[in-house]
Amino acid sequence: MARRRQLYEGKAKILFEGPEPGTLVQYFKDDATAFNAQKKGTITGKGVLNNRISEFLMIKLAEINVPTHFIRRLNMREQLIKEVEIIPIEVVVRNIAAGSIAQRLGIPEGTRLPRSIVEYYYKNDQLNDPMVAEEHITAFGWATPQDMDDIIHLTLRINDFLTGLFLGVGITLVDFKIEFGRLYENEDMRIVLADEISPDNCRLWDAKTNEKMDKDRFRRDLGKIEEAYQEVARRLGILPEA
Ligand code: C5P
Repeated sequence: MARRRQLYEGKAKILFEGPEPGTLVQYFKDDATAFNAQKKGTITGKGVLNNRISEFLMIKLAEINVPTHFIRRLNMREQLIKEVEIIPIEVVVRNIAAGSIAQRLGIPEGTRLPRSIVEYYYKNDQLNDPMVAEEHITAFGWATPQDMDDIIHLTLRINDFLTGLFLGVGITLVDFKIEFGRLYENEDMRIVLADEISPDNCRLWDAKTNEKMDKDRFRRDLGKIEEAYQEVARRLGILPEA
């Protein structure tokens, strides 16, 4: 197949022009970065696993009528997606204190939060993705109040659904980051889930032992990173039992 035109290269993925107008090919790399790319590395096989895990979760979410950009997986490292206009906001949902909220507010890691907390970060590497309020998002026009209604509504449904799905396979969904885009189809605009959902952007703990099964193993040099991602895939039924 002729090499497609590359449109964008991010830290963990590359986007290529798709075979039809309005489509893109999303390629999953093995590269891993943390702390806004101050820490860099490679996790062998990560791209293959994240492609499969994200495919699985996006299909499950589509089944409960969460609109997503996902069309189909093409091969080990690539999936076909709908081209969307990415909203420059990272939406973080937290169920249990870990990472930046634990540090910022002095809450011991592992404390269950009184309720799920949704935070927004402005996607801007130069500024280190600063946390922003809905006020900033709508005042600066990154998203409209109507977009934000859709985003909050979808985010809470995604959290409820994924929390149950992971718990069913013995994994606690501690927190995660998602992104949304605007999909223009037949003169209509819809907010859809975009990017990926994988152990790169979720905190996943073993429900019994609280062992970390996500990118924190890379961020904190805990070792056994590939094994942890494989175990998530195995429990979701994507990889055969060991
Ligand atoms: O670092 P922090 O605690 O704010 O991260 C919250 C969640 O968002 C974690 O699951 C982390 O993996 C994810 N995240 C991400 N990309 C970022 C920042 C956070 O996927 N740029």
